[in-house]
Amino acid sequence: MLMVANWKMNMDRAAISNYLDVLSREERWSRWCSNGYRLVLSPPSVYLDFLACEIRKRELPFWVVGQNVCAHEKGAYTGEVSVDMLRDLGVSGVILGHSERRRLFGETDAHVAAKTALALSRELVPIVCFGETEAERLSKEHAQVWERQIAPVWKEVLKARAAGSETPVYWAYEPVWAIGTGRTAAIDDIREVAGSLREIFGHDCSAGLLYGGSVTDESLAVLVEKGTVYGFLVGGAFLDSEAVLRAFDNLTHHP
Ligand code: PGA
Repeated sequence: MLMVANWKMNMDRAAISNYLDVLSREERWSRWCSNGYRLVLSPPSVYLDFLACEIRKRELPFWVVGQNVCAHEKGAYTGEVSVDMLRDLGVSGVILGHSERRRLFGETDAHVAAKTALALSRELVPIVCFGETEAERLSKEHAQVWERQIAPVWKEVLKARAAGSETPVYWAYEPVWAIGTGRTAAIDDIREVAGSLREIFGHDCSAGLLYGGSVTDESLAVLVEKGTVYGFLVGGAFLDSEAVLRAFDNLTHHP
């Protein structure tokens, strides 16, 4: 199970050190890891290097992923970060198509597909976000929205697979109405997503479905369902390292 902390545009070096100091006091990380529970941290890009170094220094078994990457390989793209730069820093993967990037920075389904292709070509694990707005859910268009967002990305995944890529891909269902609102999807909603993905992909994707949207260490308990969801993308709640510890403690005791 993957627990991805999306720090968004928060934290600084002092806060990161403090966060890792708190997590380092926990002695069960390697046991949790060997039982399949992995913490993944996603800092702002300027702190990827610092975070990766601090994790190595403390010998913690966490993965580091980016929050975004450029859809182009290299060149005149002022302000962007490339897949090779992420690789160079020892980053394992990258969150793609987060609704904040789509809504605030004009990212399209085509951009997300191009970024996924590039990430796979460099063995960077893509965590592809998708999800409907409240209006789309109310008008019962949500399943079409998922398909529209996922289909072009899936095409690229198939091309990469045909070219020999074995890099895993995670699909993060993040309904826009649940992000930062305190409202979480119900387990039935997540089961519906799993069913839709099965139709789009033509096979079961339970090994790759994550859920995100107002997850807390408490709400986790009702959302965990083995065989339906493989992990979670957590924003606000995981800015607090104590909440991360509580979440892992709860999860690993879950039947
Ligand atoms: P949230 O954010 O947990 O604060 O709702 C989740 C996300 O946007 O990935």
